[in-house]
Parts: sequence; structure tokens; C-alpha cells
Amino acid sequence: MRKKILTVAAVLAGVLGLTAVRCDSAESAGTSGGKRSDRKTITVGFSQIGAESGWRTAETKSIRSEAARRGVNLKFSDAQQKQENQIKALGAFIAQKVDAIILAPVVEAGWEPILKQAKAAKIPVILVDRGVNVSDDSLYTTLIASDFVAEGKMAGEWLAGKLNGQGNVVELQGTPGAAPAIDRKKGFAEALEKHPNIKIIKSQTGEFTRAKGKEVMEAFLKGAQGGGTKIDAAYAHNDDMALGAIQAIEEAGLKSGSDVLVVSIDGIKPAFEAMVAGKLNCTVECNPLLGPAAFDAVEAVLAGRPLPKKSVVRDRIFDQSVAKEVIGSREY
Ligand code: AHR
Repeated sequence: MRKKILTVAAVLAGVLGLTAVRCDSAESAGTSGGKRSDRKTITVGFSQIGAESGWRTAETKSIRSEAARRGVNLKFSDAQQKQENQIKALGAFIAQKVDAIILAPVVEAGWEPILKQAKAAKIPVILVDRGVNVSDDSLYTTLIASDFVAEGKMAGEWLAGKLNGQGNVVELQGTPGAAPAIDRKKGFAEALEKHPNIKIIKSQTGEFTRAKGKEVMEAFLKGAQGGGTKIDAAYAHNDDMALGAIQAIEEAGLKSGSDVLVVSIDGIKPAFEAMVAGKLNCTVECNPLLGPAAFDAVEAVLAGRPLPKKSVVRDRIFDQSVAKEVIGSREY
């Protein structure tokens, strides 16, 4: 009985350690607001960004396996990092009259026209992982995501402590225009405001990939070796770029983890392996296992139950001191 009166927000909170930010009814969230149709099988379109990182692969797996577990007919579309492909996929989902859409938007801007089409077709859109910039937030039902500013802050505070308030940092940014790239940069810079002797001497995009992370770090190191400022630490907006940067540091004849400190975000297993090997110093977790929460939200909105406008996934920070003991329990 008690179970029955739990709100959906509370259910989501239980699964992922989510914090509901603001409540809106399904009606005001731009959904049909009606009862779920009598069809036995729900059809859901999922527009994924691509497969740029270990994190992204884990998120895709979580959504696919949760759909299978619940008997949902999932239409999956990989946008290969292109917003235009995501917009096309959403258009196709709308034409196919899916019951709901799950969208992981590559960038924040440019979604209004297609979201208006989804709203007009009364198809609820659940945002996972990244948010969008829209003037009317009834264009989507709910957002389930981490607090990327807080993640950047955690990374910055940890690094400031490790550097004893002094040093030169290079930053590898995520995809330009993407919520985690914007917010992780902001959070990190905010943390460093209290440490005027820590300078971000270079900052460039590595597009969330290992290959680009390596390439950008190589260029940073070349600049330093050619008489530029010494690099004390690298901050990467995700683990994959950090792993690429570690390769570049070692190929330059330096010791990653001591000559150059490396801190990043995601908490994927290879990052824990790099911490155990002493090459990565710290990672801030960003939980990609969003499948259960995403389909709880889909089921709730189709049943006309209210949903919070945003559910924040709680993340933790791990450094080398705990890596060995934690690595065995990592799920992704
Ligand atoms: O939006 C989440 C970010 O996107 C993850 O940190 C990164 O690995 C991914 O590509």
C-alpha cells in the first residue's frame, strides 16, 4: 500500500540517488497528460549522441537492456555526434507515432522547432544526461542528469588541494556547446577562484574522445617543451580524454600522475585501472546507468502521473587512495 503512494520522483530517487528539483504536472510538461494507451507494447524512440566514450557506451547499454527487460519496443538511432542527425531521428520517431522519445542531446541549443513538433504530436520527450536551452520548458517532460557544474567544482577543489594552491593547469574541454563541456568548465573555474596562484594556461576541446584528448595534450606539451610555461596538471572533462592525455604525457617522457597530475570526470573502469597504476590521480563519477530512471519516467508520463521537471543524479569523487578497494565494484 505504502509502495503505491510513493511518487514517481521518489521511485527515481531510490534507483539512482536522484534529487527532484521542481515539480510540474504531466499536463504542464507538454505531454498528452492522458492515460497510457491500451497497446500492450510501448514503442520508444531513443536518439543517442554516438559512441565517443566509455561512458556513452555504458549509457546506451543501460537504456537498451532496460528496454528489453521491460518489453519495450526500442527504436535506436545513433547520431554520430551530429545534431542534424538527432533532429532527423526525432522527426522519424514523430512520423512513426512512437509513444515516447528519449533524447540525449549533443548540444544545448537549437532544439525548439523539433520539440514543438513532438509536443504538437503529443509525444512526450524525456531528456537524459544533457539538458537543452529552450524558452519554453513545456517542450520536454523531464530531464534526468548529473549536476555538471558540481562535478567540475569537485574536480577543481580536489586539484587545488593536491597542488597546494599553486600551479599551471591545462584543460581538455568536451564537445563545444554541450552541457557537460559548458558546465564542467564553469564549475572548475569557480573552484579555482579561491586559488589565484593556480592558472589555467591553456584550454581546448578534445571532443570527449581519447584520440583527440591525446592530440590536444601533445600540442600542449610541445608548447611547454618549446620554452612555454611548465604544465603541473591536466583537467579533462571526461575520462576518455584523460586516458588519451596520459598516453601523450608518457610518450613525452614524463610520468603521468606525478610529473603531471591528471584529474577527470566519469568514473569508468579504465579510469580506475589508470588510478591503480598511478597514472590518473582522481576521477569524479558521472553515473551513465540511466535506463531504469528513463523508463520509469516514460511509464509515469504515459500513465498520466506527475514527474519532477528535473532529477539530479548524485555523483561521488574517487582518487588513487581508494581506487584499489573500489575498482571491483564498478559497474561500468
Ligand atoms: O554527457 C556526459 C558526457 O558525455 C560524459 O562525461 C562523456 O564521457 C560523454 O561523452
